Amino acid sequence: MKETSIEKALTYIEPGPVVLVTTFDGEKNNVMTISWTMAIDFDQHLVLTTGEWNHSFGTLMHTGECVVCIPPAEMLETVVRIGMVSGADTDKFKRFHLNPLPAQTVQAPLLDGCIACLECKVTDYIERYGFVVLKVTRVVENTRCQDLRMIHARGDGTFTADGASFNCRELMESKLPPGL
Ligand SMILES: Cc1cc2nc3c(=O)[nH]c(=O)nc-3n(C[C@H](O)[C@H](O)[C@H](O)COP(=O)(O)O)c2cc1C
Repeated sequence: MKETSIEKALTYIEPGPVVLVTTFDGEKNNVMTISWTMAIDFDQHLVLTTGEWNHSFGTLMHTGECVVCIPPAEMLETVVRIGMVSGADTDKFKRFHLNPLPAQTVQAPLLDGCIACLECKVTDYIERYGFVVLKVTRVVENTRCQDLRMIHARGDGTFTADGASFNCRELMESKLPPGL
C-alpha cells in the first residue's frame, strides 16, 4: 500500500463503487459492506448511508473514524458475504481471512487486497437520511493489485464490474479540480 495525493480520493468515490468500511472499537476490528456512497465536493468529503441496525454504526459514531476500502471485482463473493453477517457476533476478519494493515491517521485498519483505502474521520451525521459524512484524511493505493475493476451494485442482488473507460478530460478541462 502506497500513499498518494489526497485529491485522488474523489476518483475512488465518484464512480459509486461498493466499498468495505473498516472500524476499530478499541478491542476488535470490524468491516461492513456499503453500496450507498456518494462524493459530495472537491474537498474530500463523502457520504455513507447507514444506521444503527449495523454494529459498525455504533463504533463509527463513538470513535469518529473508519477506513473506506475499494475492493476489486475478484473479491465480489467475499464482499457480499461480509455484508450478510454482523460483527456483533462474528469476527469477520477471521471468518473471511482478511488481512488488516495499519493505517496512519485512524485506528481502523486498511484491507490488504483492496484497490485503494481511504482513511476517514466522521464530520457529520444527518439522522433523517442516515447520512454519515466523512472527510478523507489519507489515501493509499495498492500498487500490486492486478484487478482494478471496481464493483457496482444494481440493487437487486446483481452487480457489474468496471468495463471500458473513456477519456473526456479535454472537454471537461475547466471543470476539473486541481491535482487530478
Ligand atoms: C451488497 C451489499 C450492500 C450493502 N450496502 C449497505 C449500505 O449501503 N448501507 C447499509 O447500512 N448496509 C448495507 N449493507 C448491509 C451491511 O453490510 C450489513 O448489515 C453488515 O453485515 C453490517 O455489519 P456490522 O453489523 O458488522 O456492522 C449491504 C450489504 C450488502 C451485501
